[in-house]
Amino acid sequence: MYDDRELILEAKHVTREFPASNNRTLLACNDVSLNLYKGKTLGLVGESGCGKSTFMRFLVSLDKPTSGEIIFKGKDITKLKGEELRQNRQHIQMVFQDPSGSFNPKMKVRDIICEPLLNFNRIKPSEKDATAKKFLKMVDLPESFADRYPHNMSGGQCQRVAIARAIALEPEIIVMDEATCALDVSVQKTIIELVVNLQREKDITIGFIAHDLGLIQSFAHEIAVMYLGNIVEVLPGEDIGKNAMHPYTQALQGAIFDLNMDFSKKIESIDSEAPSPLDVPPGCPFQDRCEYCMDKCRKEHPKLVEVEKGHQVACHKFGQA
Ligand SMILES: Nc1ncnc2c1ncn2[C@@H]1O[C@H](COP(=O)(O)OP(=O)(O)OP(=O)(O)O)[C@@H](O)[C@H]1O
Ligand SMILES: [Mg+2]
Repeated sequence: MYDDRELILEAKHVTREFPASNNRTLLACNDVSLNLYKGKTLGLVGESGCGKSTFMRFLVSLDKPTSGEIIFKGKDITKLKGEELRQNRQHIQMVFQDPSGSFNPKMKVRDIICEPLLNFNRIKPSEKDATAKKFLKMVDLPESFADRYPHNMSGGQCQRVAIARAIALEPEIIVMDEATCALDVSVQKTIIELVVNLQREKDITIGFIAHDLGLIQSFAHEIAVMYLGNIVEVLPGEDIGKNAMHPYTQALQGAIFDLNMDFSKKIESIDSEAPSPLDVPPGCPFQDRCEYCMDKCRKEHPKLVEVEKGHQVACHKFGQA
């Protein structure tokens, strides 16, 4: 996979600070550099509050980083304004955890799917019905769903409509923020199968946030592991089970007791709670929970370095100059 990848989006040194009480600063993303490749899925995993959503929200221009760049189609999308920003939204779409919350409850599915297409003058109002039916078919829902309201559908059906709406604009990238975690396991599986098939058909790039390491490793081409706002490891999806090197990734891996491991719960193999992003210590962010912590780890922030092709680790145990 590594030789034929086509870079489509490049996040460079992205940092997001949020102002907190008592003049403190919360560091939600710290110098994050990640790439998205055409037709591939990047999975982003890590404990609750580590900054996954904060980062992905930049891609769809729901927030701006404090510093850093996100290069897409030759432009830094964090600097786009006005009409250029609006036009760019067509290319990068998002599917949320709770789609029914982002749907207008008074709108029928036909209008939900076609709204973005009408906004960008891609279809005429007279084409709504045929268009909605075409996209319902793509997400394996009956055409008759065009007349339903959000409250007349199950969670899985709502998520299919959200995916239909997201693909309607023919985006190059879709960001999915825990898009399946509210669904039961069998429905999750069918939604992931749908996403994987659509990705193959349309060569869509996917940024997928998940709590569930078992789920993400089943289909992500590459996985980035985040800890307290920092990317601590990036590796091919299929390697996470056997080649994870960062002590944090290993702890997560070791904590998988079944394929539905929930990161929002305490990780048994790590003793303490994650420190607050308000009190990130100097040196390695993982130092207080790491069984291999050395003197250097308390002083120097480890950089993300390539340890083998397509595998980067930020840990003083490996390859730090
Ligand atoms: N608008 C905001 N203002 C202040 N702090 C924020 C804001 N948005 C996020 N944060 C903080 O930034 C940190 C990262 O939050 P984020 O939502 O990105 O985490 P996450 O990894 O997506 O977590 P989860 O898995 O629970 O969704 C958290 O400490 C959160 O409280
Ligand atoms: Mg989140």
